[in-house]
Order: sequence, then structure tokens, then C-alpha cells
Amino acid sequence: MNKEIASSLPSENKLIDMFSRSISYLRLSLTDRCNLRCMYCVTEEEGKGGPVKLRHDDLLTYEELLRVVRVAVRMGITKVRLTGGEPLVRRNVLGFIRDLNAIEQLTDVRLTTNGVLLNKYAQELFSAGVSKINVSLDTLRPERFASITGVDCFNDVWQGLHKALEVGFNPVKVNVVAMRHINDDEISDFVHLSKTMPLQIRFIEFMPIGDSSRWNDETFISSDEIKQRLEAHGELIPMERLQADGPAQVYRLGEDSVGSIGFISPMSHHFCDQCNRLRLTSAGGLRSCLLHDDEVDLRSVLRQGGGDEEICKALLDAIRNKPKGHQLEERLKNSGNNCHGQMSRIGG
Ligand code: 5AD
Ligand code: SF4
Repeated sequence: MNKEIASSLPSENKLIDMFSRSISYLRLSLTDRCNLRCMYCVTEEEGKGGPVKLRHDDLLTYEELLRVVRVAVRMGITKVRLTGGEPLVRRNVLGFIRDLNAIEQLTDVRLTTNGVLLNKYAQELFSAGVSKINVSLDTLRPERFASITGVDCFNDVWQGLHKALEVGFNPVKVNVVAMRHINDDEISDFVHLSKTMPLQIRFIEFMPIGDSSRWNDETFISSDEIKQRLEAHGELIPMERLQADGPAQVYRLGEDSVGSIGFISPMSHHFCDQCNRLRLTSAGGLRSCLLHDDEVDLRSVLRQGGGDEEICKALLDAIRNKPKGHQLEERLKNSGNNCHGQMSRIGG
């Protein structure tokens, strides 16, 4: 594939924040639309078919997204993850991925999907140059899947997961949001999968995001509690930390496991001090922290005729305001308030 060469920018334009964190990872939410309605993501109004989706014009076009990414890689971004909503429901996403992969310094394009369309797209995603795939899957039980996501299509995701492995994604990461009384009785079933399939099963602590989140003290379950429960099934052997693991702590359950188990603990063990992320929401807002609602309006910059210099300035503005940490505990204690941003627009 021909790569576009992008010259790098002077060091004052590098994406380094006020706390000396180098920002090298950009998450792009391609759409807020989704073919599922997960209970922790959708507002109650939306669940009833309410009107809260963005109009197509509100989304950044692929051309606009490519302009942003070209500038961002000159400023130090090396890894891009496509999220949603569900990124695979956006039209011509494969063409966009091919164009992204043509950018020289961009070495790593990843995708987070709910897996519903993966059986259909896995091969083309692999050929288009996606390097790694994360599949969100909170249950292995078809009926429960329907009640958590609002759609009875567990088997599509299951086939998609197998297809992804078959076409060459290895490992495939599986994101499991752990929730007490909702799916915590399946922890050992998930872990069992990691023994026999090349999957990295990642338990993610439930975060209070969005105004109608079902999050509360009762539903929340910490990584430490999950680890404790797993110890009954065998020894958790820590694995070497790879950069590709991001904030996950990774283990194997016993020497003979083919896959692995990851723990992502945004609530109980903050990883803010190593955070290298910047997010672009599907509405074109640059967000330097998942859990802070401050955004820089990049869409207006682009649509008011801003050139590369203005894009560069917006990126710098966004990371200049990147908070040191999310301080969620204090915020929850003080106001009972959570983060108001919508997960389907921010992309996780
Ligand atoms: N807390 C933790 N993880 C969440 N996700 C969505 N909402 C939450 C939440 N409130 C996960 C999805 C997906 C990833 C992008 O974020 O399951 O795997
Ligand atoms: Fe869709 Fe992801 Fe939200 Fe579920 S969590 S409804 S898969 S965007």
C-alpha cells in the first residue's frame, strides 16, 4: 500500500500536556448510532425510540476526519482507534480505513466493535489494515444478551468473534463491563474461554458515565473483587506488560492458557498519570478526558475554513486542558454527579 508522507512539525507543536504526558493515541468516534441499545449506554428516552441522535451533517465527514488525523500524526499521534456508537454501521467505513492506513506515520489503526457485523466485515477489516480488534461482549448467554443490549443477536456476535480469529486477528480482545447482579455470575465462564481460545478477556470496571447510567455503588464491582473470586479457579500468573495492553493489567489463569485475562480499573486503580489519549467525539468535539465534559469544538474550526494551523492549535488547546486525573470519587461524594457526556458520542 502506498503511504502518504507527512512531514513532522516543530517540537513546540508536539502533543505533550502540562503534566509531561505524551499524547500518542487518538480515539475517533465515527458515529453515535448503534445497532444495539446497551442498558448502560442508552438514555431512557432513547430506549423508547426518542430523538437524541446526531444528524448526518453534525458528524465530521471522512474528509474532515482525515484532515485532522494527518495533522495529528505530524504532532505525535501513532495509534488511532475507531469507535462509535458502532463504527461498522457508518457507511463506507472500509474505504475510510484504507485512507487512514495510507498515512505514513500512522502505524496502528484499531477498532472497537459490538461484533454484530463482524462476521460480514472481519475479512475486509483485516485486509484494509486494521491491526487489532476489541469486541464488547458482556454476557455469553443469548437471553441475557437480549436483555442487556435490547437485541436478540448473541449468535451474530459469537460468529463474528470466531470469524475475526479465523481471518487472522490474534488475539482478539473482549471487553466485558462487570456489573453485580447483572453478569458477575459469568466471570468464570468468561475466564474459561481464555483458557482455550486466543482471546484476551478484559474485565472493565463500570464507570458512572451519562445522565441515565445504571451505575450505582451496588452494581459496581472492583477488579480486586473479581481477581479474588478467580483465585478459586487457579493461579493468576502476571504476564509481561506490553504497550498494546494499554491500561490493562494482564494475567493468565494457569500455564496452559491459550488466551489471557485483563483488568481495566479506571475506578479503583487510576491510570490517569500514564494516560496518552485524546478523543474526538462523533459531534467533532476534542475531549482530553473520558470523564471530564470539557471539549474543544473542532467541527466549528473545520467548518469555518480553518487550515492545518488552526487544527494544530485546536489539538494543542485540547491537550493543554487535559486534567491531571479524573477525581471521580471526590466528584461523586461532593455532588453525586457523574460525567454527563454520552458514551455513544464519546466512544469509550
Ligand atoms: N463503564 C465501563 N465501560 C463502559 N463501556 C460503555 N459504557 C461503559 C461504562 N459506563 C464500554 C463498552 C465498550 C467500551 C467502548 O466501553 O462496553 O466495550
Ligand atoms: Fe452500542 Fe456500544 Fe452503546 Fe452498546 S455500549 S449501545 S454497543 S455504543
